[in-house]
Amino acid sequence: MDEKIIRGEYQESDSFEKTIRPLSFDEYIGQTDVKENIKVFVSAAKMRSKSLDHVLLYGPPGLGKTTLSHIIANELEVNIKTASGPTIEKSGDLAAILSTLEPYDVLFIDEIHRIPKYIEEILYSAMEDFKLDIIIGSDGQSRSIKIDLPPFTLVGATTRAGDLSSPLRDRFGITCKLNYYTNEELTQIVERSARVLELTIEHDAAQIIARRSRKTPRIANRLLKRVSDFALVNGNGIIDKEITNNSLKRLHVDEYGLDNTDIEYLNSLINKFNGGPVGIESIAASIGEEQTTIEDVIEPFLLQEGFIKRTIRGRQVTDKTYEYLGIEK
Ligand SMILES: Nc1ncnc2c1ncn2[C@@H]1O[C@H](COP(=O)(O)OP(=O)(O)O)[C@@H](O)[C@H]1O
Ligand SMILES: [Mg+2]
Repeated sequence: MDEKIIRGEYQESDSFEKTIRPLSFDEYIGQTDVKENIKVFVSAAKMRSKSLDHVLLYGPPGLGKTTLSHIIANELEVNIKTASGPTIEKSGDLAAILSTLEPYDVLFIDEIHRIPKYIEEILYSAMEDFKLDIIIGSDGQSRSIKIDLPPFTLVGATTRAGDLSSPLRDRFGITCKLNYYTNEELTQIVERSARVLELTIEHDAAQIIARRSRKTPRIANRLLKRVSDFALVNGNGIIDKEITNNSLKRLHVDEYGLDNTDIEYLNSLINKFNGGPVGIESIAASIGEEQTTIEDVIEPFLLQEGFIKRTIRGRQVTDKTYEYLGIEK
């Protein structure tokens, strides 16, 4: 099967996400603390006719960072301009985006931990006093210019808050961590997406998809889409429990929502490192994944579900893992 189906990162085939993206706080399910706080800050900013403080959203892929940034702009009733850290290469790129901003607009920068250092330095004064401080021209001709910007809100999203330099982190007045979703919340998300996509799904089928989604809305929506294909072609279009179980079996989606990479990671810990504790570098070398992918995408879920523990000496598997993989200790 396409094992990418249960990876949280965005893929081209997810372009349908736009159509099912919630547009308001009311439609945004779960993340209650984060949502309630941001609601208050948004209302306060509107009452004071001030720009909302800069917001940093962080957490594993697929949990709703991009969605939330669009909702913030909708609720502020302003425009959103979007950019991605690695694509802002020159100071001119940043200046071009900043110069299109209207008062109180939201500038969304995805993967903000990946903006180049010299761009980051330009952002400091833009964020702090809404001034753009750039050097134009080259060699003997270069000069520094200061341009006034309208008050705006930078919303930054990242899977790695720890990779942000502290001067950048300090300039965000509001920092929110998005958490994995409960099965109940994911069930609601699946049912909501089905309504938007005009699919008929039974409640127990939505619950099954929720349980297998690695606690991640993006994966839940993707599974819903695939299961709806099976329901359409092999059934009468109605997504019930039976068609859901059969489809998930055919897609090789595991009971806990673990994917091949998760299982390889756990197997490697047990078979090559005797269950740990072992350092992240050794695991990365052993399974041929980037260290950052392991830390941001694979481990948070395994930790949360109790498959691994983090100790001062490294990662270690738990009894649950031995049991799950059917390996004697
Ligand atoms: N709280 C939520 N309620 C409903 N749908 C959600 C929620 N969070 C995320 N989604 C859905 O999950 C998908 C991925 O969300 P996205 O914001 O792109 O994640 P991220 O930017 O964190 O990777 C989108 O289709 C979005 O509609
Ligand atoms: Mg995103």
